Amino acid sequence: MEDRVPAALLEWYDGHARAFPWRIAPGSAERPDPYRVWLSEVMLQQTTTAHAAPYFEKFAARWPTVKALADAPEEAVMAEWAGLGYYSRARNLIACAKAVAERGGFPETEEGLRQLPGLGAYTAAAVAAIAFGEAATVVDANVERVVARLFLIDEPLPGARKAIRAAAEDITPRERPGDFAQAMMDLGATICTTRAPKCLLCPLSAPCLARAQGRQSDLPVKARK
Ligand code: ADE
Ligand code: SF4
Repeated sequence: MEDRVPAALLEWYDGHARAFPWRIAPGSAERPDPYRVWLSEVMLQQTTTAHAAPYFEKFAARWPTVKALADAPEEAVMAEWAGLGYYSRARNLIACAKAVAERGGFPETEEGLRQLPGLGAYTAAAVAAIAFGEAATVVDANVERVVARLFLIDEPLPGARKAIRAAAEDITPRERPGDFAQAMMDLGATICTTRAPKCLLCPLSAPCLARAQGRQSDLPVKARK
């Protein structure tokens, strides 16, 4: 099933990708701008897509390049950030912009990105996959849910994280890893939802082990508090 999953998911994404101001439509000849990918992923760390979108547009219009952001007065950046919360993210954003401008561009690997201020495992993998086409595996809560169901991983979270990550790595394709990551996020947000997943509309219903046993709504299992 490992080979069927990425192909079926990418085909679905070609027709169903959600449109966001930081995204390039699948199939477009345009290349993603690492600055815009990074900016959006930092904003999306603890913020919903709906809330982040207008902030992303304001930032990208006012500071269209990482150099512009690095040169901006810090108070202006902090003021634009107001409403997104978690102000340490804004301070890291400024520090990261300065570091990247100084070195003349973003590092192009997950490992290199990981060294930048404010880039944890999730953000480094997302930028590496989406901006640079590295086959990095991006695991957020949506992806955890999809993978736990697809592979019927019924060990409770957080203990299941290791198995979930390994399974997610196994299905990450060398081709279009950025689209694959975003397709997993979209599937989790729109089809493989926490409550009442829409398995009848799901491009992965054939290989999905949870659906085959009718256990999709029980997964992922959360450890009792
Ligand atoms: N959440 C985090 N990164 C995202 C992305 N690139 N698209 C949609 N939702 C996201
Ligand atoms: Fe999720 Fe259902 Fe699709 Fe399985 S078939 S991945 S449970 S939506």
